Order: sequence, then structure tokens, then C-alpha cells
Amino acid sequence: MNNNPYTLTFGKEPPQMIQRFAQSSEILETFSDDSPSQQIYMVTGVRGSGKTVFMTSIARKLEEDSWIVVELNSSGEILKELAAKLYNTKGLSRIFDDAGIDLSFFGISVNIKKNNPITDLGTAVELMLSKLSKRHKRVLITIDEVSNTKEMQYFAGAFQILVRHELPVFLLMTGLYENINKLQNEENLTFLYRAPKLYLGALNIGRIADSYEKLLGLSREDALSLAKMSKGYPLAFQVLGYFSCNKGGDYMAALPDARQYLAEYVYEKIWLELSRIEKDLLTCIALRKQIEVKAVKAAMDLPANEFSVYRDRLIKKGLLDGSTRGVLRLTLPFFDDYVNEHADL
Ligand SMILES: Nc1ncnc2c1ncn2[C@@H]1O[C@H](COP(=O)(O)OP(=O)(O)O)[C@@H](O)[C@H]1O
Ligand SMILES: [Mg+2]
Repeated sequence: MNNNPYTLTFGKEPPQMIQRFAQSSEILETFSDDSPSQQIYMVTGVRGSGKTVFMTSIARKLEEDSWIVVELNSSGEILKELAAKLYNTKGLSRIFDDAGIDLSFFGISVNIKKNNPITDLGTAVELMLSKLSKRHKRVLITIDEVSNTKEMQYFAGAFQILVRHELPVFLLMTGLYENINKLQNEENLTFLYRAPKLYLGALNIGRIADSYEKLLGLSREDALSLAKMSKGYPLAFQVLGYFSCNKGGDYMAALPDARQYLAEYVYEKIWLELSRIEKDLLTCIALRKQIEVKAVKAAMDLPANEFSVYRDRLIKKGLLDGSTRGVLRLTLPFFDDYVNEHADL
């Protein structure tokens, strides 16, 4: 359907976008401070929780504020890509050329006469950034979907040095909790270990209901009950809206398609990546929709300390909600059905 106001596309800012005011301003204010206390943030959350969209919207806002934004790929030669992209950013090559920064050694074309190629990439990037610093420019680097690769470790190490030299460079990364966690726990990357993590949780339910009320023509009551079904999960907000729109607003008729979509695009992958014990724990909760911690503990037959390790990890992965004291619930909408259908009991 072409004029559907909702989208099934990952990673692109959707027409129906709900702001995350508190989390956006946390990053924007920290990074924009005269003497920033942090130059790095990691954004984490399950697939479909809006990491890419969130990161892009922060980048847009800083760009509007005259920041230089460089989007890098987490695989490949990240530092080299940074040098090349900085050099090729509109208006910057002249600054670097005028300063006589010769990047020809790295295969980056430069327009300077005297040839004195820099051969160390770290030095090159440092020189470039110091020129930008003199012009009071700030550089935001974004990297989507990081994991603990050799390239990322190397880049993080180089970034650490740039920050230590007080260069105006900032890093915003996204990743699944398990991937970010492994990278953060790398031995020589202690500064990453301390880097703040933002967990992307539910979107505002009232705003979701506003959207459904207006665009699907639902009563306030129906809009709110559909919004609650999404549990604020960004992908489900779009998927429920999309299929409901296709059914002319009959949202109950749209549920089977919406659930199937979530299962095929996200839940299957999530399920495959879980360990046996994690699956058992989720199954135990899914059977009853929500369950007392005591009862899960008893059913799981695990030593108490191990139980809390698994519980905490599932909470950090964004699959388990432990916000109500003494009770555990699944975070994602219709995931209990999925789990019940797939658990081998
Ligand atoms: N703030 C938001 N408001 C509305 N929809 C959103 C928002 N953030 C993400 N979405 C929607 O959720 C889906 C997943 O977003 P995406 O950023 O690709 O997630 P992730 O990168 O975490 O997998 C997309 O369809 C996107 O349109
Ligand atoms: Mg993404």
C-alpha cells in the first residue's frame, strides 16, 4: 500500500516518529558542553528497538548545529575510512590542503604541491582534527551495529588517544547488548568499559495512541488498546499500524499478519541466539504472562547467584522486564505466544 503512513523498513527515520526526549537530550547536552564529560555513548537495545533511527536523529540534530558528521562502517579499516571521509567532507579538503596535510600515502587524493606524505594513520587523523579544532568544529563519528572485532578494537584504541589529546571528536555507536558488552570487556579498552550505555526501551504509549487515533481513525479507547498491544516496541508500533491501515482500521483483523511479521523478522533471530537456560527462563515466564520472581527461581532449579546472572542479562538484552518489584514479564509484544509455540517442553 503506497500511502500507508507506517513503515516496515528498518533503519530509516519513519514518517511517524516518536521522540525520545530524555535520551536525546542526555547525549546532545553532554556532547555540546564546553568541556564535555563524555565523548562517547553506546546505544543498545534489541533488534527493532530503534537504535539506528535514534542514532541517525542525533546525527541530524548535531549536523544542523554545524557539526561534522562522519558515518563509518564497523567492518574494514575504520580509521582510514575516517581520514578519507573527513577529507571528502564538503568544505574540508581545502582546510587540510592549506595545512599541507599530505594523505597520499593512504590513497587519499590531495591537492598540495610539496610532497611529504604522512605514513601513520593516527598522526594523520590527529593533524586533521587539530586543524578542525582551531576552527571550533566538532566531529561526530557514528558506527551502527558494532561488535567485538579486531577492527573495532583497533579503532577504539585510536579513538582513546584522540580523546586524551583533547581533540573535538565524539563517538556514537549502536549494538546488541551482547556485542557491545564483549567489546567493552576487552582488556586494553578500559575507557570503553566506563563509556555510558543508553538502553532503548519503550516509546511513549500515549503518543502511539495519538498516532493510531489520528491516522487509523480509531476511537481513543481502541487506539489506546492497540498502543498497549505494541508495548511501546518501535517495530511493533509500525507493524501494527501498517497492517491495521491495510485492513482499513480493523486492527483485530490485522493482528495475525502483525504477529507473523514480528516472528519472521525478529523473534526467530532472537530465539536462535539464546542459550538453553535463557530459553528455559523465558519459557517459564511466557507460560504465565507474568510471574513472581520466587516462582521462576523455584521452577528453574538454578543456584541463586546464577539465576540472577541470567535474569540480569535478559533484562539488559531488552527481553525481560523486571521493573515491577518481585515480578518478571516479557518485554516484547506477542513474544510470549512465540515462546510458547517454540519452546520444546
Ligand atoms: N522513535 C521512533 N518512533 C517511531 N518508530 C520508530 C522509532 N524508532 C524506530 N522506529 C521504527 O522501528 C523499526 C526499527 O527501527 P531501527 O532503528 O531499524 O531498529 P534497530 O536499529 O534497533 O534494529 C523501524 O521500522 C522504525 O521505523
Ligand atoms: Mg539497526
